[in-house]
Amino acid sequence: MHLITLKEWSPAEIEEVIDNSVEIKRSPNQFKTALEEKSLAMIFQKTSTRTRVSFEVAMTQLGGHALYLDWRTTNFTLGDVKDETRYLSRNVDCIMARLMRSSDLSAVAAASQVPVINGCDEKYHPCQAIADLMTIKEQIGKLKGVKLVYIGVHNNVCNSLIVGCTKTGVKLTAVTPFKNEQSLDEEIIEAAEKTGLYKTTLDAKNAVKDADVVYTDTWIDMEFFLEPKFKEEKERRTELMLPYQINEELLKHTDALVMHDMPMHRGYEISGEIVESQRSIIYEQSENRLYTAKGILLKLLRT
Ligand code: CP
Repeated sequence: MHLITLKEWSPAEIEEVIDNSVEIKRSPNQFKTALEEKSLAMIFQKTSTRTRVSFEVAMTQLGGHALYLDWRTTNFTLGDVKDETRYLSRNVDCIMARLMRSSDLSAVAAASQVPVINGCDEKYHPCQAIADLMTIKEQIGKLKGVKLVYIGVHNNVCNSLIVGCTKTGVKLTAVTPFKNEQSLDEEIIEAAEKTGLYKTTLDAKNAVKDADVVYTDTWIDMEFFLEPKFKEEKERRTELMLPYQINEELLKHTDALVMHDMPMHRGYEISGEIVESQRSIIYEQSENRLYTAKGILLKLLRT
């Protein structure tokens, strides 16, 4: 079993991991040796704070071991992805990879003889969505019937949220004036529309009125954020997206909680005031990456 897009997981499997992650958070000592003698290889083609830290700490706290592999310093740069993966999966018990291309992630999963976890590619961020759902359940007490409004660029995080929410009964309204072409997955939209839980609108003010949770993400993907060649596109996108910033004015008629998967860009997709406000559950959400990393590892390595 792998975790690549979240599309391949059933609602029951997603909810099982969420509930186990809550239990792991509550009673960490019960799981101290659960992955004794197990090794996780973590391959990164892109930068990361939360994904790297949560999986590495998760393995340590479960009694196992994690190896950080910077793609650029490995022979994945020279050899075939499939050949390198076939070797790697003979020496470790699980692979977590953050790669540029979803197609490479699929190639890793196909070649591996151990479970593979997608640590975020251009289309999907399933580990983030599981942590987000755990946070909603923890804060609101349920998933079914909760109304989440995602305001931002339609990207990998948005895709995985749509899958996770519609599989667990969360109503998701997407306010996405810009769509990342590289992230598009029509299958996700078609499946979500069939559930009756997914809506789109460009009227952010109206959408947040009865929201339980308002969620946003960066307008620029991490691999382009500091890229000089992307400067003009960054400016164009900022101008388009600024009216959709999550700020006090937008949220003045709602008690909705606010989520962001981080890293954040204060003054762009979210105001600093909202980040520091009582309604922000952003740091609880990021903390929960650790417990859900443990939940995901236990699901994949103990079944
Ligand atoms: N949200 C998230 O995946 O954070 P990192 O990019 O820091 O891993």
